[in-house]
Amino acid sequence: MLKYEEVSKRYGDVTALDGVTVDFPPGKIHALLGPNGSGKSTMMKMSIGLVKPDSGKVRVDGIDPISDPVKARMVVGYSPEEIVIYESLTPAEYLSFLGYVYHIPREVMEERASRLIRLFKMEEHMGKLGGELSHGNRRKVLIMSALIHDPRVIILDEPFSGLDPEIARVLKEIMRKYADEGRTVIFSTHILELAEAVADEVTIMHRGRVVAKGPMEELKGKKDLESYFLEVTGLTSELENLLKAL
Ligand SMILES: Nc1ncnc2c1ncn2[C@@H]1O[C@H](COP(=O)(O)OP(=O)(O)OP(=O)(O)O)[C@@H](O)[C@H]1O
Ligand SMILES: [Mg+2]
Repeated sequence: MLKYEEVSKRYGDVTALDGVTVDFPPGKIHALLGPNGSGKSTMMKMSIGLVKPDSGKVRVDGIDPISDPVKARMVVGYSPEEIVIYESLTPAEYLSFLGYVYHIPREVMEERASRLIRLFKMEEHMGKLGGELSHGNRRKVLIMSALIHDPRVIILDEPFSGLDPEIARVLKEIMRKYADEGRTVIFSTHILELAEAVADEVTIMHRGRVVAKGPMEELKGKKDLESYFLEVTGLTSELENLLKAL
């Protein structure tokens, strides 16, 4: 459903992605893991054409997000890592703006929006200005915006960051439901326990490359995900040295 083929991206001297070939099939929740700066957000942004590869191919449901970003955005629901929302629009105004952009019929839009508002407990906040919302409520607006057009591919960059435990649980259930419906769900996180609890498949990035990919249980074997992560990223001994400074 979402495919990267030999994708590379540099920012000046920095190699953000180094020949990434990876496929995220539907019907599963995929965790995208990797140390800071390993290329996760760069990869996710490419799915809707926000970042252009220097070389290689990205395809989402057969669509090239670079040549056809509008079509790609109809298929993908993307929620960015950085919380950037319109400070002078209310969430209600922003969602109806998206309904217009995505050509969602009014009745469908009303039903979908009210379901999302209920699920994310946003009833009391829909009329506030974006700039007045708390951190977690801003995150919820981003996630609701990613889901409002009922996308087949859901890409959430650190979506749990800032969510309270109850809403985090709601989001986990939403992700599971979407995967069970045959959609592709990808999320990034640094919380490996969370990845273990939620994901079916794991992709581990390191320095712009995919260093491990497979079903969660198969990958980690008898170890816990943290030990496996440190091992495949070659960070086990580095960590031991770091901890000597304690
Ligand atoms: N717009 C940009 N300009 C310059 N360098 C960038 C830009 N975006 C990303 N990079 C660099 O590309 C590399 C990959 O960054 P990316 O944001 O994809 O990593 P990440 O895995 O999402 O990290 P994190 O876990 O910290 O979110 C980093 O070295 C980063 O500094
Ligand atoms: Mg990132």
